[in-house]
Amino acid sequence: MEALALERKAEQNRELKERIVQLKKERNAIILAHYYQRDEIQEVADFRGDSFLLAQKAAQTDADVIVFCGVHFMGESAKILAPNKTVIIPDERAGCPMADMVNVEGLKALKKRHPNAKVVTYINSSAEIKAETDICCTSANAVKVIQSVDADEIIWVPDKNLGDYVSKFTDKKMIIWEGYCNTHDMLTVKDVMEMKAQHPNAQFVVHPECRPEVVKLGDFVGSTTAIIKYCKESDCREFIVGTEDGTGFQLRKDSPDKTFHFATKFLVCPNMKVNNLKKVVKCLETMQPQIYVPPQVAEKARLSLERMLQVK
Ligand code: 13P
Ligand code: SF4
Repeated sequence: MEALALERKAEQNRELKERIVQLKKERNAIILAHYYQRDEIQEVADFRGDSFLLAQKAAQTDADVIVFCGVHFMGESAKILAPNKTVIIPDERAGCPMADMVNVEGLKALKKRHPNAKVVTYINSSAEIKAETDICCTSANAVKVIQSVDADEIIWVPDKNLGDYVSKFTDKKMIIWEGYCNTHDMLTVKDVMEMKAQHPNAQFVVHPECRPEVVKLGDFVGSTTAIIKYCKESDCREFIVGTEDGTGFQLRKDSPDKTFHFATKFLVCPNMKVNNLKKVVKCLETMQPQIYVPPQVAEKARLSLERMLQVK
């Protein structure tokens, strides 16, 4: 973008942010933003975080309204954990393809075939799937959750890559669903090797939603928050980042003197980027779209999320 257009865009964003601050007060609202959101959304958020931290914040807030800037399953989890709050999202088309890769009929059939297994579900899933689940997890606590489960057999849905990573930390038999994240799964060994050759002093930090052979190359493997913390505390000055591009906002904020190279230009989740400041303003003005979860589904799904929040 040329200088004039950039300046105009910055001015427009300033005005939208002012309007958001005003509307937040009027509505007694808080904004929760995932680390994969656009920078300007992360700038106006009350809390930025990964899926786990944002679920915790939703469960704890005193606000009347939660504006969830992320993807649909995140807003749904917030509504399940805070049923008396109004949860709105900037754009209801912001879904998660991985969450859509598992369906209730398939999961029920698998449960029938393995009647002694407990179901552990990645939070990247629908409320209906969570309602068929014993305990949820996020990438931040998946290993702890698996180790906390009192069963020798586990049905794991929907992320096969995270499932493979977690299976290395347990002797339990894992029956793993074939889902994956379209964005993280795109990263190949070739991409990483090329980046490593270009930046020989950089460490490779990687999210476990990536393919197992890519995760294997990691100097550090962890959730979005864990990656941010690791890079902040590390003595290393340069990193190749194997997770979604939006994470760069917090990485650079926390460590302005360090250099971050994203492992490929394709590590962008288009669903996360559907949200923008204009839509945040609009949803606060209209209080639409709101997240609704049928009470009988929400009640069951809540149990699986609350069990996760209790795992220490
Ligand atoms: P975390 O927020 O747990 O790091 O998960 C990444 C992700 O893909 C969220 O959709
Ligand atoms: Fe879903 Fe992957 Fe996007 Fe996360 S990054 S919302 S898992 S598609």
